Amino acid sequence: MQSRPSNGQTNAPAAAAPTNDFFVHPTAEVAPEARIGRGVRIWNRAQVREGAVLGEGCIVGKDAYIDTDVHIGANVKIQNSALIYHGATLEDGVFIGPQACLTNDLRPRAINPDGTLKGASDWEVGETVVRYGASIGAGAIIVTGVEIGRFAMVGAGAVVTRDVPAHGLVLGVPARLVGYVCACGARLEVDAQGVGHCSRCGSTVEIGAETK
Ligand SMILES: CC(C)(COP(=O)(O)OP(=O)(O)OC[C@H]1O[C@@H](n2cnc3c(N)ncnc32)[C@H](O)[C@@H]1OP(=O)(O)O)[C@@H](O)C(=O)NCCC(=O)NCCS
Ligand SMILES: [Zn+2]
Repeated sequence: MQSRPSNGQTNAPAAAAPTNDFFVHPTAEVAPEARIGRGVRIWNRAQVREGAVLGEGCIVGKDAYIDTDVHIGANVKIQNSALIYHGATLEDGVFIGPQACLTNDLRPRAINPDGTLKGASDWEVGETVVRYGASIGAGAIIVTGVEIGRFAMVGAGAVVTRDVPAHGLVLGVPARLVGYVCACGARLEVDAQGVGHCSRCGSTVEIGAETK
């Protein structure tokens, strides 16, 4: 882990600024207080806020936003324009699709009942955890307070309001569990004993057996 960005400049001319440890595009903004792991690549106009932690090998796409104190494991891919707000934790190997949004305020209000503007301490931060290897599809919205299980998959455009089990595939608005997927991404055929079989890679998965 490093404790400072590779490139102190922000909004500099668009030229690549590679370093041995990690890469920050000159138009990206990485807070000096963020901790960036070896091999991380942060692309055009992405913003990584103070206190955020990115593990080794992560990729942060163009225009993505990583809020304060968000903890992200190793080898996580965050696609263009994804929004990861304070209160989110992403374990190793997570995929966040383009324009997906991990929210953090269950009952958002700009103002208090008396009309005054809410401050940072006037609301409760919700927490969201995305477990190892899980994927969030393009444009999906994760309403705060849920856990997305290991190797689960959230379909494009879904609105997730409930926990998703390990290997679960959820679709729609609100997102519903429609099946299970293998670590390789293919659908699992689940037999009467609750064992999922993958015809693509030959793996078997005991549904419900994988825990945190
Ligand atoms: C969820 C997903 C994995 C399903 O793939 P699949 O298992 O091959 O499913 P199918 O394409 O056979 O579709 C099965 C059914 O689900 C529907 N469906 C597929 N994806 C859906 C989605 N995201 N939301 C709602 N319904 C969906 C299909 O229309 C189909 O419905 P039907 O049986 O009534 O015709 C895929 O559609 C998806 O959303 N992937 C995420 C893509 C993405 O965001 N990538 C980000 C990087 S660019
Ligand atoms: Zn498989």
